Parts: sequence; structure tokens; C-alpha cells
Amino acid sequence: MSSIILGIESSCDDTSAAVIKDGILLSNVIASQKVHENYGGVVPELASRAHQENIVPVVAEALKEAGVSKDELSAIAFTRGPGLLGSLLVGTSFAKGMSIGLQIPLIDVNHLHAHVLSHFIRKNPEDEVPEFPFICLLVSGGNSQIVLAKSPGEMEILGKTIDDAAGEAFDKCAKVMGLPYPGGPHIDRLAATGDPNKFKFHKPKISGLDYSFSGLKTSFLYALRDNLKENPEFIEENREDLAASLQKTIIDILMEKLSKALKDYPVKHLAIGGGVSANSGVRNRIAEFCRSKRIKAWIPERIFTTDNAAMVATAGYFKFLEGNFCDLSKPPYSRVTI
Ligand code: KG4
Repeated sequence: MSSIILGIESSCDDTSAAVIKDGILLSNVIASQKVHENYGGVVPELASRAHQENIVPVVAEALKEAGVSKDELSAIAFTRGPGLLGSLLVGTSFAKGMSIGLQIPLIDVNHLHAHVLSHFIRKNPEDEVPEFPFICLLVSGGNSQIVLAKSPGEMEILGKTIDDAAGEAFDKCAKVMGLPYPGGPHIDRLAATGDPNKFKFHKPKISGLDYSFSGLKTSFLYALRDNLKENPEFIEENREDLAASLQKTIIDILMEKLSKALKDYPVKHLAIGGGVSANSGVRNRIAEFCRSKRIKAWIPERIFTTDNAAMVATAGYFKFLEGNFCDLSKPPYSRVTI
């Protein structure tokens, strides 16, 4: 049976809509919110207001780009959580309204599942996709998890952060260096020309597969404070080396647990996802690691690393094929394990 699915994403600060036809991506429109840059982080109330402004034009644009009219849609998939409640309410209410108006099924999508399933976004029927089971390192501004994906609907968290997420470590350390929000991409850019071995920062010593990044953040802060006492120009003079050393430490922490997870769960495919998977250092290390272990690496296109509706529509497509639809009474949720 042929199907056309509209996906809607509004969990944080990106309003996005995408259309897929029989599992093939036709359009993916993303409106990022610049308003938060002035505040050094996402302001939830401003985010939900911006979603309200963006949602109608973004959905209209996605349909237009796909060359599809709303009457041709088979179902609407939307991110129900986790995320910012006010933001999620906009996408959820819009999706529900459209589903009632068009009399078509509604599919609720877990945002974290969608990131893992972003590797199944296909632009052409012959595009390859991962084989289950695979491990996905999910690293974003809000999450750092090692996920064992057993099937499209069955995912187990093998390890997760017990404090900050990897993206938070990038952003908070960048902030004390005086870099704009979000700092991750700035660290990435500066690190390209820095010495990754110039500075040593704290690495956590916790057993199992869980992550911790708050100790690293504190040690970075103390290093800056101590050095600034001696030399007020310390940050200015060492920007690239600080960025490269910080990035290397974060990647070392990520890789140590990932490598352990692969020993415990020897899968043949390894994927990464989430905003931090756009990082050049992370991408290179994952590719290198997979080559050395002779496993297949799945590194997403940069556009699919951050929040996007293409992954929501794709995750929704799997549920559509199962006839797994959502009740109109289901509210959005802010927190969830996978
Ligand atoms: O998945 P995402 O868009 O949404 C949230 O969970 O908020 O991830 C955003 C995170 C931010 O922390 C941002 O600094 C980080 O991804 N990020 C990067 C890079 N691009 C985005 N971190 C390091 N290097 C990058 N190139």
C-alpha cells in the first residue's frame, strides 16, 4: 500500500516538517530559532512562541517542496516527547488538528528513537540502511546515550549520562571561553588548528557504560581560572589549543564507553546521531574505530544530526507499516527513557 507521511518536529528550538512517500524523503524544511543566541541557551517560553509562528509556513513549505497536497496525506507523525513541554505542545496540537481535519491517522514518535532511526532516511530507493541489531551513540545537547537498537520499535539504553550531556560540556566550556551559543560548532572550528595534547582535563572514572561530563567541565573551569591569574590573555592566546584539548577529552570519554559496549554487545553496525555527531573529531574517530574493528560505521549527513522532521517521518513510517497509531487523548511528555 502506497503511503505519504507528514512528519512534524517541535521538541526544542527547531520547527521542522518533512514529507516521505513510501519511505523515500520528498522534503525536509527546518526553521531554526535565532532568538536564543542572545541568552546563551534555549529559553523555553520564547521557543514555544517561535514554534507557533513557524509551524504553519514550515508545514506549507514542506508540502509544497514535496509537490504533495494535504488531501493526499496518509498519516501525520509528530514528536510527542521528550523535549520542552511548551514546544512539544505546539507540534502535538497542530498534528492532532490536522489529523482531525483530514480524518487520517496520527502517529506519535519518540524523539530519541527518531534520532537513532535517522539512518533509515532514504532519498533514493537504493540507499543502504543499517542492519539490526546495531549500536547507536546518541549525543546531543540534552542526551548522551549508548543505545542498542534491536528493531525499529525496540531499543535498550546500555549507558547514559549521569549528569551533563556531551553537547552541554561543549556548550558550557565554550561559554566560559567567551564563545557564542551553541558553542559546540565553534569548538569544532577552533580545534581544527589546535594542539589536542597541550592541556589535560579530568576524565571520569565510573564503572559500567554510563557517562559523566560534569567533572571535565569543572576541571576546564579551574584550568582557565588558574591560568588567567597568571596571564589575563590566557584564553585569547590559547583558543585553538584549549578547543582541541577539550574536544579530544570529550571524544576520548565517548569512545572509551562505546568500545566497552561493543565488547559486551558485538554488533556489526555502529551508528552515531544527535547534534554532537556533527563534530568533525567525533566523525573521524568513529570512522577510524569502525575501520579498525571491521564494523560498518553509520555517520549521518550533517543536516540529519540536529533536530529534523525527516527522522520523525521515517520513524513514523515504521509505525505506519505496523498500523501502530496514536490516540488523540495522548499528551506530550517532557521526559522519558528510550
Ligand atoms: O541534537 P541537538 O540539535 O539538540 C539538542 O539536544 O539540544 O544538539 C545540539 C547540540 C549542542 O550542544 C551543540 O553545541 C552540539 O549539538 N553541536 C556540536 C556541533 N554541532 C552541534 N557539538 C560539537 N561539534 C559540532 N560541530
